[in-house]
Amino acid sequence: MQDGRIVGDDITASSQWHETTGPKYARLNREEGDGAWCPEGEREPSDSQYLQVDLGQLTFVTVVGTQGRYARGSGKEFARAYRLNYSRDGTLWRTWKNRHGNPVVEANSDTYNAVIKDLHPPIITRVLRIVPVTALSAPVCMRVELYGCPWEDGLVSYNSAEGQLMIPPGFPIASLNDSIYDGTHQRRRLSGGLGQLTDGVIGQDDFLLTRQYHGWPGYDYLGWRNDSISTLGYVEMEFVFDRQRNFTSMKVHSNNMFSRGVKIFSSVSCWFKPHLPGGWETEPVVFHTVLDDRNPSARYVTVPLGRRAAAALRCQFYFADVWMMFSEISFLTLYFPFSRSQQPRPSPPDQHDAMIISAVTATNPTNDQPEDSNTPVLIGCLVTIILLLVVIIFLILWCQYVCKVLEKAPRQILDEDVTVRLSSCSDTIVLRTPPVPPRAAPPTATVPSDPHYERVFLLDPQYQNPAALRNKLPELSQSAETSGCGGGYAEPDITQCTPHQCFHSNAPHYAETDVVRLQGVTGSNMYAVPALTVDSLTRQDISAAEFPRQRLVFREKLGEGQFGEVHLCEGEGLPGGAVLVAVKQLRADATSQARNDFLKEIKIMSRLSDPNIIQLLCVCVASDPLCMVTEYMENGDLNMFLSQREIESTLTHANNIPSVSLSDLLHMSVQISSGMKYLASLNFVHRDLATRNCLLDRRLTIKIADFGMSRNLYSSDYYRIQGRAVLPIRWMAWESILLGKFTMASDVWAFGVTLWEVFTLCKEQPYSLLSDQQVIQNTGEFFRNQGRQVLLYAPPLCPPSLFKLMMCCWGRDTAERPTFEGLYQALRPHVNQ
Ligand code: ADE
Repeated sequence: MQDGRIVGDDITASSQWHETTGPKYARLNREEGDGAWCPEGEREPSDSQYLQVDLGQLTFVTVVGTQGRYARGSGKEFARAYRLNYSRDGTLWRTWKNRHGNPVVEANSDTYNAVIKDLHPPIITRVLRIVPVTALSAPVCMRVELYGCPWEDGLVSYNSAEGQLMIPPGFPIASLNDSIYDGTHQRRRLSGGLGQLTDGVIGQDDFLLTRQYHGWPGYDYLGWRNDSISTLGYVEMEFVFDRQRNFTSMKVHSNNMFSRGVKIFSSVSCWFKPHLPGGWETEPVVFHTVLDDRNPSARYVTVPLGRRAAAALRCQFYFADVWMMFSEISFLTLYFPFSRSQQPRPSPPDQHDAMIISAVTATNPTNDQPEDSNTPVLIGCLVTIILLLVVIIFLILWCQYVCKVLEKAPRQILDEDVTVRLSSCSDTIVLRTPPVPPRAAPPTATVPSDPHYERVFLLDPQYQNPAALRNKLPELSQSAETSGCGGGYAEPDITQCTPHQCFHSNAPHYAETDVVRLQGVTGSNMYAVPALTVDSLTRQDISAAEFPRQRLVFREKLGEGQFGEVHLCEGEGLPGGAVLVAVKQLRADATSQARNDFLKEIKIMSRLSDPNIIQLLCVCVASDPLCMVTEYMENGDLNMFLSQREIESTLTHANNIPSVSLSDLLHMSVQISSGMKYLASLNFVHRDLATRNCLLDRRLTIKIADFGMSRNLYSSDYYRIQGRAVLPIRWMAWESILLGKFTMASDVWAFGVTLWEVFTLCKEQPYSLLSDQQVIQNTGEFFRNQGRQVLLYAPPLCPPSLFKLMMCCWGRDTAERPTFEGLYQALRPHVNQ
């Protein structure tokens, strides 16, 4: 809207107050006319006046920004809330609802500031209506911005049998329905809409785990059982598209947790309907998959569709087991915007379309070519292709230039212009104007993006170069204010040395080698062992017993990291009489550095023995692949465990909802502090303490571990520095982020954040309303300690004395933070023995 890419004719409204407050003045951050769109009269709560934006093509809309009428200080009107109605064809209208079924989006509280909202789920539409919502009769004016990208799939609806409930004995009930489907549900069938199969969220290996906060087990999947009436042997789905397209392939993201009776489909047959309305062609495309009983990972199955032309597809997916579960379906197509079968409202071909058209005309000259094509036309086409290539090259060079400029932007914006409200129930961030909406991506505001999205962030070079940072933050040599926490670290505070000393007495931070040191080998942490060098490691250094690998029988995959996998295995004759064990295995193609780090980790772990630290049982290092075998923790990691539970109450008892009591939480906290006290007594620094790295056994004993698969499962908890180190910034002390300094005191900081996670039952990521860049910016505020830092709020479940303890862990001065011994002593009395 702001940059004029949506032209005036495409912005309309149900009414306008005056000529000068018409819909064309509804552009965010623009001040033309009387400064905004205002519908006629005062808005009554029951009114549904709207601003309508025709995007000209199907678009995946992910973010909406709104502002009121500022009019250089004279405006007073704004919308406190709005609804979104949308239509893919301009005729049939649907109302957007968030994942909890709420259609109302909270908006502005003044005329000036832009409020940016992520849409969860995103909307796939061509036309969007913004309907201001008011509680009282009041005048309303709005300016808006929309963020998203073209919906290249062109899919406008899918029909299928409704998803079903899985009620397995001994496991939580999984509800495998399509909870955001926007079509109709009739006679156990979904028809005419889109939903979870097109929301961009792919399910995890374990279908019970969900990527949504407050999502129920099975939330991310649409799943069917093989023996119901609607799904006898196969599931039939119909896909309708905006226009005729040539189908290259279909990608189906499918679960394969065969230990629970779920497998990808064994085969699929697809029929094609060239025109709407029209009949189906008789000849299907049939594709048989290769079934896989060894790897339980969810995966994309790509079905080649032979470039067949169609406007609709009907596919029958055949079961390979009792259950079949899909989380996402997408299509790769080619289409001809100028062909006769086009939609009534043609949109200009974008760059991508143009490329595709060129490719098709070049390789497939008979296909939809005008009958009178001849040499001049071909030459024209070739010239067009060359011109397009030149334009694309120019655009790439221009983008590179813009990216460079933008790299400097986040810090500037964050330094002065961002106000953040932290609350547990709102996902609002208020940007003081002018919030310049980036062209290429939505603003870095609001709740964290879904974990599976590939997150690439620009980073101010100063964060990779502490010397530059020091120049930028001259206060780095000022001494800290004391917090009154009475901490226990005698080590000299970093702030007491000169910049020169500080830089040289601390490692060159996050250099390439640090990547491995921070991530360990299967992505796991390395404890700090000063005298251990890579070259000095030999088999003699490893005190754990060798175990014959052929006696380990694979049962299921527990996790996966950058450098390897963790498997549940069964074995006979294992140390301590164990039968089920966790086996962490180094990838065959690991670098020699990763290999050495794996051996180092084994060496360190073999020296650790504590009831609250995961126990290494034996190793397989006589041959490749290197393996370490640890005790198996039946209840998985603490983050998953807590996020699937509620606090114990009469309600949880009455409804059989999995729960934990406050005393369970306190007991967990004591156990973590005890494990950390043990590590601290050996001068080991963990560097990545968090609930995701605490495991629970059958009796709910907690053991601290760090298996690298958490880097995959919890990728949004880590911040990637331009392909180098991967950092859990939300758990890191300011000095670890800014100076690369990891000590027991920074572990204490992470312990405070871990306690916070425990008492929020892991329902929220720490600082969930801050983007990664804002978290880093906030770190600067922790350092400056001028009261501008955003703090984690006191979790409602958390006793005040405990929150005070957390706050002490986040003291600016490392010497002021408590020790693990002190934390353990402070926490232990809270637990009824
Ligand atoms: N995931 C990673 N390590 C594990 C272990 N030791 N037990 C259970 N699940 C795990």
